[in-house]
Amino acid sequence: MQPAGGSPLIELKDVKVYFKKGSIFGKRKLIKALDGVSMKVNFKEKVAIVGETGSGKTTLGRVVVGLQRPTSGEVTAYFNGYPVNPYSLKGRAKKEYFKNAGMVYQDPYSAIDPLMRVRDVLRIPLLYAGIKGEEADKRIKEVMSRVSLSEEYLSYYVFQLSGGQRQRLVIARALLFNPKLLVADEPVSMLDASLKGDILDLLNSVNSDMGVSVLMVTHELAVAKVFAQRIHVLYLGKIMESANSEEFFSNPLHPYTQLLLAASPDLKHLRTIPEIPLKKVSEIPSSANIPPGCRFHTRCPFAFDKCIKEEPPLKEVKEGHEVACWLR
Ligand SMILES: Nc1ncnc2c1ncn2[C@@H]1O[C@H](COP(=O)(O)OP(=O)(O)OP(=O)(O)O)[C@@H](O)[C@H]1O
Ligand SMILES: [Mg+2]
Repeated sequence: MQPAGGSPLIELKDVKVYFKKGSIFGKRKLIKALDGVSMKVNFKEKVAIVGETGSGKTTLGRVVVGLQRPTSGEVTAYFNGYPVNPYSLKGRAKKEYFKNAGMVYQDPYSAIDPLMRVRDVLRIPLLYAGIKGEEADKRIKEVMSRVSLSEEYLSYYVFQLSGGQRQRLVIARALLFNPKLLVADEPVSMLDASLKGDILDLLNSVNSDMGVSVLMVTHELAVAKVFAQRIHVLYLGKIMESANSEEFFSNPLHPYTQLLLAASPDLKHLRTIPEIPLKKVSEIPSSANIPPGCRFHTRCPFAFDKCIKEEPPLKEVKEGHEVACWLR
C-alpha cells in the first residue's frame, strides 16, 4: 500500500544524538548534535532544515537515511505504508531501507572518488544490490537522463566533470534505487550562483515527476525559500521555529529566524523583518557547551531573566506554525 500525499513518510520524535569526545586534558566532552528534535516529512513533500554551521543539520539528515543511530528518541518510516523503525532492521530489510532513502552528500568534491569513471560510480552500488547486465545498464541510462547528463559522460573520469555535473552525478547515484525520500545536504552551497538554479530545478523535477519527498539541508534561507514547502530552523540541535513557507516568510516569529533573515542578502527586502538590534556575541556557541535556559539567549537581543533559566518549549502559536520562544 502506498501512502497518500500528505501522510507521513518519516517521523522523528524527540530524537537526540550525543557524541562523546575525548579532549587533550583527558576530560570527555559530550557533544549534543541533536537535542530533542521532532519533525516529519510527508509523502511527496519538500522540507528544508535551515541553520548555521554546527547546528546539527547533517546529523539530522544522517538519522533520517538510517546512517546515524539516535542516542534516544523514535524514528518511524512509512516507506511501505506501515511503520518501521529503521534502527531495528537487520540484513535484507536494512538494505531495502537504504534503497528507499537516498542521500546527496554535502560536498560533491569529496562525495565521489575523482579517479573513478562515471559509469562505475553508478554501476558499483547496483552490483552490490545484485543488479547487473542489461538491468543495470537500463537503470544507469534512466538516472543519467533524469539528471540531464548525456550518456557520453559515462566514460569520463569524475575529475573531468564540472562542479554542476558532479552534483548531477551525485543526485543520479542517489536515485538509482527509485527512493521515496532524498536527503539533499547543502546540494547547492558549493556551486556558482548560475548553477544553483539548475540543481534546484532538478531537485524540483525529481519531486514533482518522480514523487520523491526531499529533505533539503541548507544554511541559506534564500534556498529554502525557493524550494521548500515547509521550513524548520535548527539551532544547536533544537528546532526553534517551523512553519509552511508562506507563513514562515510573511510572519517570522523567532528572534533567531529574524536575525537569519536580516543576515540573508537576498531576503533583506522582505518587509516582514522587523528592525532588530544585533548583539555583540555573534558566534554560535559550541554543541559541547550549550547555554542553559533558551540556548539562543546569549545572542538574543530580547532575552530576559526567564530565558536564562528556563528552556522554552516548541509550541504551536498558529495552525502549523511552531516557535520556541518565551516572547510568543
Ligand atoms: N561523528 C561525530 N563525532 C563527534 N562530533 C560530531 C560528529 N558528527 C557531528 N559532530 C558534531 O555535532 C555538531 C553538529 O554537526 P553537524 O555536522 O550535524 O552540523 P551541520 O549543521 O551539518 O554543520 P555544517 O553547516 O558545518 O555542515 C557539531 O558540533 C559537530 O562537530
Ligand atoms: Mg553539515
